[in-house]
Amino acid sequence: MKKVENILRQNGHRKERIIQILSDIQRIYNYLPKEVLQYISGRLRLPLSEIYSIATFYAAFSLKPRGKHLVTVCMGTACHVRGAPAVLSRLEERLGVESGGTTSDNQFTLKTVNCLGACALAPIVVVDEEYHGQTTVNKVDKLVKTYEKDEN
Ligand code: FES
Repeated sequence: MKKVENILRQNGHRKERIIQILSDIQRIYNYLPKEVLQYISGRLRLPLSEIYSIATFYAAFSLKPRGKHLVTVCMGTACHVRGAPAVLSRLEERLGVESGGTTSDNQFTLKTVNCLGACALAPIVVVDEEYHGQTTVNKVDKLVKTYEKDEN
């Protein structure tokens, strides 16, 4: 828990900084491990239930192990009519996981959302925080390769 202790120190062990603390923890583990949440609950004297309600409220936090790269496919109406289902199928095929799943090498987690609020760019795939607009089935392989190369 040395890394976690460092994060707590950087945030002054202040419970008001809980969102920042959870973000920092997720940056290290790619998700929020249960035992870490229990640990910070004790250290900050903040009820675990409160930490869980924050962690589940914000979509950016994950309580389940997540791959190094998060691939999000928008399935909102605009993206849907412009080909998002086919893009999602190709991604599922290419990564070998269904939406909600994580690849066995823990490199990618695939998920869907309903409208990212940038419909003019439909269909959109977001990898980590990078938006890829007007994505087509043919662009999927190249997109995945870019992030595979990016490993290390
Ligand atoms: S429907 Fe995809 S960004 Fe709005």
